[in-house]
Amino acid sequence: MPRLLAQADLLPLNTFGLPGRARWLAEVTGEADLRRLMAQPEWAGRRLILGGGSNVVLTGDYDGLVLKVAVPGRRLVGEEGDAWWVEAGAGEIWHDLVMWTLAQGWPGLENLALIPGTVGAAPVQNIGAYGLELADRFAWLEAFDFVTGAVVRLDAAACCFAYRDSLFKREGAGRYLILRVVFRLPKAWRAVTGYADVAKELAARQVADPTPREIADAVIAVRQRKLPDPAEIGNAGSFFKNPVVDAGTHARLAAGHPGLPSYPQTDGTIKLAAGWLIDQCGWKGRALGPVGTHPNQALVLVNRGGATGADVRAVAQAIQRDVRAAFGVELEPEPVFV
Ligand code: FAD
Ligand code: EPU
Repeated sequence: MPRLLAQADLLPLNTFGLPGRARWLAEVTGEADLRRLMAQPEWAGRRLILGGGSNVVLTGDYDGLVLKVAVPGRRLVGEEGDAWWVEAGAGEIWHDLVMWTLAQGWPGLENLALIPGTVGAAPVQNIGAYGLELADRFAWLEAFDFVTGAVVRLDAAACCFAYRDSLFKREGAGRYLILRVVFRLPKAWRAVTGYADVAKELAARQVADPTPREIADAVIAVRQRKLPDPAEIGNAGSFFKNPVVDAGTHARLAAGHPGLPSYPQTDGTIKLAAGWLIDQCGWKGRALGPVGTHPNQALVLVNRGGATGADVRAVAQAIQRDVRAAFGVELEPEPVFV
């Protein structure tokens, strides 16, 4: 039976540093732990799956069982054909996996270096950065299904990946605990350097034909410059998704705001920059009590000390209200409120 902690302190387990206690907390190292826990009616009720806690907003105490995912392991499962196939346990640290695959000579994840959190959470919001998404390198995953009690294998189509979205944020929310993920890393490697910040960083380093490791290093440098380190100031990364609007809405907004950053999507819609919209509303570096936006990145809400989930919600709602009033655009939070 996995070790159970009563009244466990969740503050050190979420990168925003928000306070809260779990009625129970258990570390899960594999399906056997889950089967044992679920066999007890006492634990089979309300539950929350937690990885590194870098994309959650804790709104208070959790009256249920928190399953802290700690499934270990990483290995090459195949190298036949045109790709390397790499499997990692859900509890592995994402950034460590990225650097390990590069050291092994299996590139492909370098643009996603330094994203906080675990491997098991990466498919949940289909993590993405600097021109690449998890979905671009995903083969399949194995998950424990709390409805049937079986372990299922889900491919990319079943996971319904989209921008910061998947099955696990919708119909499958709370139903599956992801145990391990398999990545497909094509042997025909091609650098992804289209994102302006990365291209600029490589140019500044005078790297014309970058290796995978040089791309990782450039991404790490950009991220360290632009994003606050949760070890220094509590945060959950981008607090809102970048809103996607139709062409008509975009034309109306662009006419009134010549500097509007716009990213056309393949389906004709246009992605806007939530950080720019928030910045234009005068919110960059501004705070309401213990929660504010980061002075270098208005899209990141930060805990200036002693904040609660309610403080975070108050600032988020004030920002949503101001952006709605100025631009008529709705901002949707990216982290999960629990
Ligand atoms: P948690 O916060 O613990 O959980 C997030 C959600 O996933 C919760 O709903 C949880 O229940 C669920 N979950 C966790 N593990 C599992 C599992 N094994 N099975 C099923 N459900 C699970 N994200 C990006 O996409 N791109 C970025 O560039 C980026 N930059 C960031 C920068 C900073 C400074 C921070 C703090 C965050 C950033 N994020 C980014 C967000 C975050 O890193 C990712 O969402 C990450 O995948 C969260 O991992 P986690 O283990 O901390 O998940
Ligand atoms: N901008 C401003 N002011 C700000 C912040 C941004 O004007 O305060 C402008 C920038 O100048 C730029 C545009 O907004 O023109 C976009 O900014 P940036 O390139 O920094 O990217 P982002 O849209 O803020 C997204 C992801 C990040 C990811 C980076 C790199 C979302 C919600 N966020 O940020 O992901 O790392 O691109 O790909 O999609 C996360 O999800 O937690 C996260 C950090």
